[in-house]
Amino acid sequence: MAVITQLLLFALLPVVATAAQNNPTTQGVKWLEKGRSVLVRVSTPDLPLWNKEEQIGEDIPSALILNFTVSADNKTLLLQDQPFMPLLLPHTPPRLSAPQTSQSLSEFEHGAPKLEDLPVFDLDYDRIAHPRDDPSIHYYNYYPKLTINLLGAGIAGHNALLKDMEQKVVKITLRDWNTVSRASTDPPNHSFEITEVRLWERRAGDSVNPDDLKACTLKSWRCSDFGDHPWYRYIFRQNFDEYGKIGSFRHMLLQRWGTLYARLGFFRITLLILVVASMVLSPIPYALYKGGKWIKAQHRARAEAVAAVWKDDDEDVEGLLFADESLENVYGYEETECQEVFSEKQVGGNAEGSVEKPLPPVPAQTADALEASEKV
Ligand SMILES: *[C@@H]1O[C@H](CO)[C@@H](O)[C@H](O)[C@H]1NC(C)=O
Ligand SMILES: *[C@@H]1O[C@H](CO)[C@@H](O)[C@H](O)[C@H]1NC(C)=O
Ligand SMILES: *[C@@H]1O[C@H](CO)[C@@H](O)[C@H](O)[C@H]1NC(C)=O
Repeated sequence: MAVITQLLLFALLPVVATAAQNNPTTQGVKWLEKGRSVLVRVSTPDLPLWNKEEQIGEDIPSALILNFTVSADNKTLLLQDQPFMPLLLPHTPPRLSAPQTSQSLSEFEHGAPKLEDLPVFDLDYDRIAHPRDDPSIHYYNYYPKLTINLLGAGIAGHNALLKDMEQKVVKITLRDWNTVSRASTDPPNHSFEITEVRLWERRAGDSVNPDDLKACTLKSWRCSDFGDHPWYRYIFRQNFDEYGKIGSFRHMLLQRWGTLYARLGFFRITLLILVVASMVLSPIPYALYKGGKWIKAQHRARAEAVAAVWKDDDEDVEGLLFADESLENVYGYEETECQEVFSEKQVGGNAEGSVEKPLPPVPAQTADALEASEKV
């Protein structure tokens, strides 16, 4: 019965999976240049339309516009003019901002994009690359898929989480023409083309609250989301600054160093390093000398103590003797075993190697062994 249920589950799984991720759409995808540059309109039901003149949000449907463009040398995918694949500095993920439009879907798709004079929102986002975009991994036929899910947006000090399940997730597929039936190089020399852009339904877990993320403390070096490069997927503006993930040990060190550097400048920092280094290094030879003397003294003291034990403490000496006796017993048993083997070999006429075996203590047997070796 359990087996049947399992089989049913396996049979249903693909169906359930496709149902949860149904109908990717290309509505809202507007190519500026096929394979190289594309605008994506992401409807944001949580975001009011920002009125720049009055500095208020109006209850009018709006959308954010993302611009994915391959750089002129084809090596990098830019998002809003920033390197997004590969990342320039994975420890300080790019800060993105996007213009907000009140254009409807059909206006956007059929009209010319007018992006000037629009209010611009700063973004929080979830970025996942599949396979992982670690430059030290070499891929054959590299078709990376990027998933970008907008998690929050802010303007003029107002912030909103984008949690509405109607909001779509952008998936963009690239092709690296420099890896066609060969592996990527180190450092990678990509030649990207954008092959596919689609908007997918959100799934449970795609709307993320920054408070639900694991707290970042000094116990962690970088408070990463992954164990490996590129380390982070949830990029909330409040969690990152120019030194990396706020709260991590790495961030603390870099920030301390940064403020020190800013305060002292290059010359005095160099001087400080020299002074500290000489302070740290100069005691080492002295410490080695002192340490050597100490070890010698310890050694001598122990030798003297052992001598004292042998002289004074009869009980301990007796104990040692007993221990030796019990060892002798053990070896004694082994010797008898050896004897038996020895005599068997003798019968076989094979005395070779028997010379190496410990000779039995009984004089008569020793004579036998000598005889045997004389025979050979
Ligand atoms: C970039 O790719 C386009 C095709 O997508 C190609 O025409 C162009 O020559 C490439 N440029 C470089 C520098 O490789
Ligand atoms: C899209 O971005 C590219 C570079 O990142 C830029 O050259 C282009 O003008 C942008 N297009 C629009 C319509 O904003
Ligand atoms: C990188 O790839 C381009 C073609 O896309 C090629 O012209 C160039 O020589 C390559 N550079 C290196 C360092 O391999």
